[in-house]
Amino acid sequence: MNKLNSNISNEVLEDFLDPHKVLHKGEKIVEITKAGEGNMNLVLRIKTNRRSFILKQSRSYAEKFPSIKAPIERINTEYLFYKTMINNGFKNNIPNIISYQKNDFFMILEDVGKSDFLNIYTSKNIDIKTIEILFEILNNIHSCKVVFDYPSNHKLKELNHQHMFVLPFNRDNGFDLNSIQYGLKELADDFIDDERLKIKALSIGDRYLRTGKTLLHGDFYPGSWMKYKNQIYVIDPEFSFLGDSEFDFAIFTAHLILINSDTSVLDHIENNFINKEHNKALYYKYIGIEIIRRLIGIAQLPINHTIEQKKKLLNFSKSLII
Ligand SMILES: Nc1ncnc2c1ncn2[C@@H]1O[C@H](COP(=O)(O)OP(=O)(O)OP(=O)(O)O)[C@@H](O)[C@H]1O
Ligand SMILES: [Mg+2]
Repeated sequence: MNKLNSNISNEVLEDFLDPHKVLHKGEKIVEITKAGEGNMNLVLRIKTNRRSFILKQSRSYAEKFPSIKAPIERINTEYLFYKTMINNGFKNNIPNIISYQKNDFFMILEDVGKSDFLNIYTSKNIDIKTIEILFEILNNIHSCKVVFDYPSNHKLKELNHQHMFVLPFNRDNGFDLNSIQYGLKELADDFIDDERLKIKALSIGDRYLRTGKTLLHGDFYPGSWMKYKNQIYVIDPEFSFLGDSEFDFAIFTAHLILINSDTSVLDHIENNFINKEHNKALYYKYIGIEIIRRLIGIAQLPINHTIEQKKKLLNFSKSLII
């Protein structure tokens, strides 16, 4: 495998891309920069004299934390997610795939600009129209017919499972929570001192690890949404798998709650967007888990809630789980 890095020169990257026929005749690379703030993969924005595109390459570890092992074939999951969306007629809310090179573990994608949604945690504002569109996109994803053997994504799910269902509930996880916010460590220690909660978390985690029938995005939170040319684009489906649609809905709902630290959002979302045929209990449990792991786990968000607000959110989450 040819491994790229962010210091690569324009000329070396041109040579690297040459056999893959990515660049057109006369097209020259003029600038290579890091695209956004990802942790897991190498993601570069390549500007040429004609256009701009994104190159994403996976490795056998997390790009920002090399000690964390991650399955290199996750880029294939991502590619197959996009392919499935295209096959089902939903190409409007995903970037175009310009090239996919399975053996070199990279994909070249249309550049859908620099406007992500991560600022909504500080602006504490997301409008109802955007929420509606995101639910529509999620329903489209879940309605996809999957015609080939979709990857189980088991290894990446195992990694996610640790960070969602196990480590946040473990006192000795080594997370330096007080460096994130003074008092967070004590809050977390008190909160997780509850055997019932740990056992419940593990049993929901078992459910997450199963394979189901519905195509999921697997990481449907503001970091996976982009605004471009008046459209919403969904990116980064490396965590996708066939599972419970309740999981995607729950992750989405958890973040809508986290944005404002407002638990009343749940009623509104439930009444307007969650179908009667969905398993409500399961939906609630996944919401609880996602809120907890975002507050006291390693995958923190750019939120600025007080310890008191976090305490309320944690207790609310516990009530959803137990
Ligand atoms: N097609 C695209 N167009 C424009 N920007 C993009 C595109 N794909 C990725 N980016 C930018 O690069 C960032 C990282 O991309 P992505 O989330 O796919 O990488 P990742 O390594 O999987 O991240 P994470 O660690 O969050 O899982 C995105 O947040 C976004 O800002
Ligand atoms: Mg990712």
